[in-house]
Amino acid sequence: MVEFTLPKNSKIKTGKTWPKPEGASNLREFKIYRWNPDTGENPSIDTYFIDLDDCGPMVLDALLYIKNNIDPTLTLRRSCREGICGSCAMNIDGTNTLACTKGMDDIKGAVKIYPLPHMPVVKDLVPDLNNFYAQHRSIEPWLKTVSPPPAKEWKQSHEDRVKLDGLYECILCACCSTSCPSYWWNGDRYLGPAVLLQAYRWLIDSRDEATGERLDNLEDPFRLYRCHTIMNCTQACPKGLNPAKAIAGIKKMMVERSV
Ligand code: SF4
Ligand code: SF4
Ligand code: FES
Repeated sequence: MVEFTLPKNSKIKTGKTWPKPEGASNLREFKIYRWNPDTGENPSIDTYFIDLDDCGPMVLDALLYIKNNIDPTLTLRRSCREGICGSCAMNIDGTNTLACTKGMDDIKGAVKIYPLPHMPVVKDLVPDLNNFYAQHRSIEPWLKTVSPPPAKEWKQSHEDRVKLDGLYECILCACCSTSCPSYWWNGDRYLGPAVLLQAYRWLIDSRDEATGERLDNLEDPFRLYRCHTIMNCTQACPKGLNPAKAIAGIKKMMVERSV
């Protein structure tokens, strides 16, 4: 019989149940992934109770309530608290989403919160996104031109500008990439839906003059072609974008330039 050895620190143990806030009558239960690499211990799921009468409606409000009133060691990223910075992305109730735009009312029972899946964890709810950002940098996400710069600005027709809708809104939260099975298994070599959506955003920008070079950079069995159109990415995007469609757009450009 085949025997598997679990990687160190992969087994999650039952954690601490924190005391309920005194005098609270409107309680909500939270089960939250905790891991501190400095202790050498395995991760745990800690249980907290928050007082809904003393807390805002979003999951991020609850996490900040816990951090401010119950357990200051709980570690998470957040900044804008309105779905713009992408830093509060995490797995809530089984779905990758933004804690600041996810309402507690949308969730039944205890609210279960984990870091984004299949990424190394720095601590608690903070994933290590270094590889993700390096991949973003690798597609050179800026305007590349060879023509002499215009006197004032690079102009674009209204029709060409509209082609960027559904792409420029990406906040690089990584909810899509970390819900993609191909990215789970090949995240070191497959660019994943978020970065490919960004790549497409520059490929179809009428002002950009590096289209051929950009396509050459993507023409690789792993960087682009690990997408098998499973569509998890599009379902996960908290901004309602469609990375799978953008990837299909890149593949179409590849075919068109080869005929
Ligand atoms: S469509 Fe492609 S990128 Fe999106 S989840 Fe599926 S394999 Fe991943
Ligand atoms: S496409 Fe959506 S889910 Fe993916 S990184 Fe951009 S905003 Fe986040
Ligand atoms: S805190 Fe910025 S997107 Fe949630």
